[in-house]
Amino acid sequence: MSKVLITGGAGFIGSTLADRLIKNGDQVVIIDDLSMGDIENLPQSMNVTFYNESITKQAFMADLLITNNFDYIYLLAAIASVADSIERPIETHEVNQNANLNILETIRKEKLTPKKIVFSSSAAVYGNGPELPKKETSSIDPMSPYAIDKFATERFMVDYGKLYGLPTVCTRFFNVYGPKQNPKSPYSGVLSIVSDCLVKNDVFTLFGDGSQTRDYVYIDDVVDALLILATTSDAKWDVYNVATGQSISLIDVIGAYESASGEKLKVEKKEARLGDVQDSVADITKLRGLGYEPKVDVNTGLAKYWDALQEK
Ligand code: UD1
Repeated sequence: MSKVLITGGAGFIGSTLADRLIKNGDQVVIIDDLSMGDIENLPQSMNVTFYNESITKQAFMADLLITNNFDYIYLLAAIASVADSIERPIETHEVNQNANLNILETIRKEKLTPKKIVFSSSAAVYGNGPELPKKETSSIDPMSPYAIDKFATERFMVDYGKLYGLPTVCTRFFNVYGPKQNPKSPYSGVLSIVSDCLVKNDVFTLFGDGSQTRDYVYIDDVVDALLILATTSDAKWDVYNVATGQSISLIDVIGAYESASGEKLKVEKKEARLGDVQDSVADITKLRGLGYEPKVDVNTGLAKYWDALQEK
């Protein structure tokens, strides 16, 4: 049994990771300010401790880290909205970068001994670079405060980790989808918005012509990737794409979702969003080298997603 901290553990990815860790018999501590997460996402288990706090509460975080000396730390808390970071660059910087640096500082100064610290970064760091598929060595072009903070914090994880001997590793998530993803903002993951429209029979706004492609990765594969990165000691001071390596256009993914659900999506077209990336797909050779293999293709993933929504 390991003692695990998940920041952002009431969110989509964090709470699904928590479910898996609980099943594996671990003891999980979750900190989440519920700004994007939902208390209903939390696993109902004696082995979960939840704190409704922000990771920016430095004294609280230091105390939590020192008291528990966690085996594994997953840093998933973020203000995960590019648009919000453009509106509020200072506030989002406090969460997306400074709070994470403070966590590293506490671990270093207090000589804590986690086996791994996994930081979640984003494909947003690649920006609009022309190289496809994106390799971890592809050029970086963070185009928003969100992406700048993600990239800078990756560098802190990697180089600070090396300097002070802390076992850190980073993920670059592509388009993660699945149950529990919050559809409430216009900048929520597109498949959570499509789901919501299918369930409520609402009109979906399609930005652009639908030809834009993405690498949609199902949440269970993402949890697999997180566990591999945490438990592989050689995966250290490094950055890994987390995706499927397959791309699909928005029109085609909508079609696949209609087939999986047996529902028809009402669509209204609007002009493409400013700054929208046309094509995005990952090269996942590096993560495959650690034994990762995405198991859920997009048709299966959408069917599972739809089933989970029906159960709710
Ligand atoms: C995603 C990330 C973003 C990151 C980027 C970089 C999410 C929510 N966003 O953005 O943080 O910077 O990857 O890889 O995961 N769309 C519609 N209608 C809608 C919503 C979206 O047509 O109601 C379109 C968008 O214009 C876009 C596509 O769907 O072309 C996907 O959008 P979205 O899910 O927001 O993801 P990314 O733009 O890839």
